[in-house]
Amino acid sequence: MSNEVFPVSPEWAARAIIDEARYKALYEASLRDPDTFWREEAQRIDWIKPFTKVKNVSFDPKNLHIKWFEDGALNVSVNCVDRHLKDRPDQVAIIWEGDDPKNDRKITYRELHAEVCRFANVLKARGVKKGDRVTIYLPMIPEAAYAMLACARIGAVHSVVFAGFSPDSIAGRVVDCDSTVIITADEGLRGGRKIPLKANTDEALKKCPGVTSVITVRHTGGDVAMQAGRDVWYHEEAAKVPADCQPEVMNAEDPLFILYTSGSTGKPKGVLHTSGGYLVYASMTHQYVFDYQDGDIYWCTADVGWVTGHSYIVYGPLANGATTLMFEGVPNYPSTSRFWEVIDKHQVNIFYTAPTALRSLMREGDGPVKKTSRKSLRLLGSVGEPINPEAWLWYHRVVGDGRCPIVDTWWQTETGGILISPLPGAIAQKPGSATLPFFGVKPVVVDTEGKVLEGETSGNLCIADSWPGQMRTVYGDHQRFIDTYFIQYPGMYFTGDGCRRDADGYYWITGRVDDVLNVSGHRLGTAEVESALVAHAKVAEAAVVGYPHDIKGQGIYAYVTLNAGEQPTEELRKELVQWVRKEISPIAAPDLIQFAPGLPKTRSGKIMRRILRKIAEDDFSNLGDTSTLADPTVVGDLVDNRQNKG
Ligand code: WTA
Repeated sequence: MSNEVFPVSPEWAARAIIDEARYKALYEASLRDPDTFWREEAQRIDWIKPFTKVKNVSFDPKNLHIKWFEDGALNVSVNCVDRHLKDRPDQVAIIWEGDDPKNDRKITYRELHAEVCRFANVLKARGVKKGDRVTIYLPMIPEAAYAMLACARIGAVHSVVFAGFSPDSIAGRVVDCDSTVIITADEGLRGGRKIPLKANTDEALKKCPGVTSVITVRHTGGDVAMQAGRDVWYHEEAAKVPADCQPEVMNAEDPLFILYTSGSTGKPKGVLHTSGGYLVYASMTHQYVFDYQDGDIYWCTADVGWVTGHSYIVYGPLANGATTLMFEGVPNYPSTSRFWEVIDKHQVNIFYTAPTALRSLMREGDGPVKKTSRKSLRLLGSVGEPINPEAWLWYHRVVGDGRCPIVDTWWQTETGGILISPLPGAIAQKPGSATLPFFGVKPVVVDTEGKVLEGETSGNLCIADSWPGQMRTVYGDHQRFIDTYFIQYPGMYFTGDGCRRDADGYYWITGRVDDVLNVSGHRLGTAEVESALVAHAKVAEAAVVGYPHDIKGQGIYAYVTLNAGEQPTEELRKELVQWVRKEISPIAAPDLIQFAPGLPKTRSGKIMRRILRKIAEDDFSNLGDTSTLADPTVVGDLVDNRQNKG
C-alpha cells in the first residue's frame, strides 16, 4: 500500500463541476433525502411523460423490488441522439479509430441520428418489436453503437456478446434470453489479426434453432457464407429504409439491455438494466466523475461487450452530448505507443483504461510513452480491477506527466455505473484506493457473520440502499437475483468484493471474496472454466482457482484429474488450454495446469478451494486445517507437484 496523498490542485478545484464543499453537501443531501435529490438529478434527461414517483425499493428478500421513476416515460435513444440535434448537430458524437491507424471516421450527432434510425428501421423490417431480445456480436465499430441505440429506439432489449467469445458461449446467451435476431459482422480486426465473427455465429446457430434472422455488417470484406432466408447484409437492407424512425415511448422500468456476466456458480447470468434509472445514473456519473465539460474529447478503451463499454462509451457520454472515442484495436499494435499516439492524434482530454493494460505497457519502459506529447490530457481513469500503487504511480508520473488526477472507479456490471471513485475536483487521491462513495451510495463493511463494522476496518462490501443504476433482476431467474445478492446480508446488496476502510473513510477494494476470477479485468466464474475442462473426454475432474499474476492481476490455475488410464503429458496440457479457449474464449485459457491424481475434498465430497488457492499462490506455510479432509495425503502430493516447480 502507498501512503502518499495526492491533493486536489487549485486549478482542478476551480474548474470542476463538483468541488469539495459541493461534494460534501450533495452527498449528505443525497442520503438525507434521496427522493428530493434524485427528483432533481433526473431532470438531466428528457422525459416524454414526467414521473411523479421517485423511488420504490425494498431489499427485503421476501419482497424484493427495485423501481425508480416508475410512472415516467422516455426513450433512451432520443436522449442520446435526437435531443442534441438542436444545439450540436455538427459536433462529432463518435470518433472511431480503427485497428489500422490509417482507418478512422468521425460521426456527427446529425449523422448518428440518421444511422440509428436506419438501423432501427432495418430491425423493424426484420420483424423486431418492442420487448424482443436482440443479440449483438460485433467488433468495436460504430455500428455497435448504432445497433444498441436502434434497439433502444424501438424498445427492443439488446444483449451484447463480447466479440472474443466462442460459438458455444454465444449459443448459451442466445438461448437463455430467447433471442431470434443476431447482429454480427463478417470479421473483426484486432492487432492485425482477423476474427471470424460471422463464421462463429454460424457455428453457434447450430445450437439455436429459434434464430430467424442474422444481420451482417460488412467490415473487412472477408468471405462469409450467407444462408438464404436467414442471413442478410446490413448495407443492403439499410439502403431500402428511410433515415427517420419514430421512437417508442418506453416506461422508465422497461428493460433496456441484458448483459451476461459470470457469477460464482453455474452459467453466466443475464444482468437486466432498465431505461430511466440506468440512463440518469450513467449520464450523471459520466459527467461528474470525469468532469465532462462541453468540447472535451473523451476516450474509454473498454469493449462494448462489457458494461464499461455500455455505460461509458455509449450511454453516459452520448446522453451528455459528449464526443466519445471508440477504438477497434489493441494497446500494442502497431507499437506499444499506440494509446499515446491516438491521444495525440485526436487530442484526447480524458482517458479511461484498465490496470492490466497499464501494467503491460509499463513493462515496456517510459520510452514509448515519452516519445508522444499527451499535452491534451487532463484526467486519467482506471477501472475493472484493483490498481496496484506501482501502476497508479506510473500512470500518474509517466502518462499524465504528474499533471492529471486519476479517478480509480469501482463498480460492477450489476451496479450499472460507478459507485466509489474520487471526483477529480473534490477528493484527494491515494494510489490504490477508489476513495469515497458517489452521491446516493452508502457502502457498508460487514464481517462474515453479517455484523456491520464501523470506522477503520476490513471485511465484505455491501451497499445499504438502492441507486437508480442498479440492476433489476437476473433475466428469467428472479430467484437467482435474490439468492446471489440479497440473502447473505439481509437488507443489503452484497457486492461479492472484499474491502478495507482506512482512517479517512477511504475504501480500498481488495478483490472478490467469492469464486469469481478477475483476469485482465475480465470476470470469469471458476465453475465455468471447470465445466469446460470436465467436458474434455480425458478429464475426470477439475478445480480452478486464481493466483497473483504480474500483468493480468489474476491468472487461472487449474488442477486436473484425468480419467483412469490417461497419461499426463505436455501435449495434453497444451490441448486442454486450446480446448478451453475454444469452449469459452481465449480470455478463459488456464495459465497453469497441474495434473493431480486427487483433489482435496471434505468427507462430504466438497472440494476445499482454500487449500488449492494457497498452493497456487505458492503459500505452503499456512494451509489451514486439513484434518477434515477425506484423504489428507493428497495435499502433500499437490504441494510436491505444484506446476511451475516441476
Ligand atoms: C472489480 C467492471 C478494484 C471488482 C466495471 C468488481 C474493481 C468487479 C474496480 C466487477 C476497481 C472493478 N478497483 N476492483 N476500480 N473496478 N473491480 O462486472 O472485483 O466486469 O466486483 O464490472 O471488478 O467486474 P465487472
